[in-house]
Amino acid sequence: MSAPTIEEAAAAVADPNAYADDDRIHAALAHLRRTAPVAWVEAPGYHPFWAITRHEDIMAVERANDVFTNSPRPVLMTAAEEELQAAVQIRTLIHMDDPEHRVMRAVALNWFRPRALKAMRSRIDELARIYVDKLAAAGGECDFVQEVAVNFPLYVIMSLLGVPEADFPRMLTLTQELVGSADTELARSTPPDEQMNALLDMFDYFSKLAARRREHPTDDMASTIANAVIDGEPLGDIDAVSYYALIATAGHDTTTSSISGGMRALIEHPEQRRRLTDDLELLPAATEEMIRWVTPVKAFMRTATQDTEVGGVPVAQGDSLLLSYVSGNRDDEAFDEPFRFDVGREVNKHVAFGFGVHFCLGAPLARMEISSFFNELLPRLRSIELAGEPELTATTFVGGLKHLPIKYTMV
Ligand code: HEM
Repeated sequence: MSAPTIEEAAAAVADPNAYADDDRIHAALAHLRRTAPVAWVEAPGYHPFWAITRHEDIMAVERANDVFTNSPRPVLMTAAEEELQAAVQIRTLIHMDDPEHRVMRAVALNWFRPRALKAMRSRIDELARIYVDKLAAAGGECDFVQEVAVNFPLYVIMSLLGVPEADFPRMLTLTQELVGSADTELARSTPPDEQMNALLDMFDYFSKLAARRREHPTDDMASTIANAVIDGEPLGDIDAVSYYALIATAGHDTTTSSISGGMRALIEHPEQRRRLTDDLELLPAATEEMIRWVTPVKAFMRTATQDTEVGGVPVAQGDSLLLSYVSGNRDDEAFDEPFRFDVGREVNKHVAFGFGVHFCLGAPLARMEISSFFNELLPRLRSIELAGEPELTATTFVGGLKHLPIKYTMV
């Protein structure tokens, strides 16, 4: 493959299909890091933005959250999608800035503290066991993503939120349509207004859930959010429902992608799988490495509130910046041999969970799910290999493998 030009590399950053091809996206991002680490991108259909590809610059932007705000453009979308979403008035933590953001984040924070997670541990381990059993029962050949990796995190997050089990399949379809909307296989149809229907369906479902939890509060997260009081005022409907939608989407596909991408990495690096199986004490390090390797959240965006600079490049007030976590996590200035998958990596300051005030709220939960799953699986896995071509989701936001055909033997 010949090296991309700066323009081609920059265009790849906004092309969902580029993320479905590991070699293409990594070649483009490596080229940008080397030649134009703060690159102006004008891609057809998008408002222009700066692509920030070096780890150090990403961290600097995340740290300066008074200069670089999440509002009004936290996520890369086409201009048409931005317009539609503005009409829906969606408002979640990722759309907010301090001081409002801090107050709103505190509403669900207790659910992600060590004490609450400790209480979740046995349930997560039990679910991990159930899904490893399902894998054993599948008879030695399956699509790991569709049969195992999508369901386990969905079960965890929906149980935590308090969604009734009978509604899990519907939630699965809706979250996949929302986050995988650039992928023709996952979207219900291509036009953005049709994709908006998935969002409206989810909002309708969650409005009813919030109303039920206000009438009869239980001990789930949905009740905490529905009955939250901020500055003496009950949390409004839009805020409560947006909160549910954020937890449901953020807590699901991200972890699914990490588990399936982690599985693939262990298949493609059998010596790393043996090393980890022989020493499960490495699981915390291996979990971080899987998250870095996969980087399921491709990017978030910020907007400059004043004229400033990033990495020595002038940035004007009102300009948007795309923080490419995929790129930051393969930056050789920040990682020793970043293209080596190493389950024992000692220094791993990856940016897959972002950084600073918006640092992923669910990071401790995600880590627990991933390590619990492999802790159950690896001692029972005798052999595993690919049984077909792995396929990645086309997306510029959240995604990873959508198919991972495997052949395996287990005890
Ligand atoms: C491996 C899995 C996951 C990855 C890679 C991931 C990644 C991220 C990233 C990159 C951000 C934005 C950080 C920033 O702007 O600096 C974020 C925010 C967030 N994540 Fe996660 N996430 C994962 C799992 C989860 C889970 C399981 C939940 C559970 C509910 C969750 C809930 C959230 C929430 C609520 C936010 C918004 C935080 C804020 O704006 O203050 N995430 N996540």
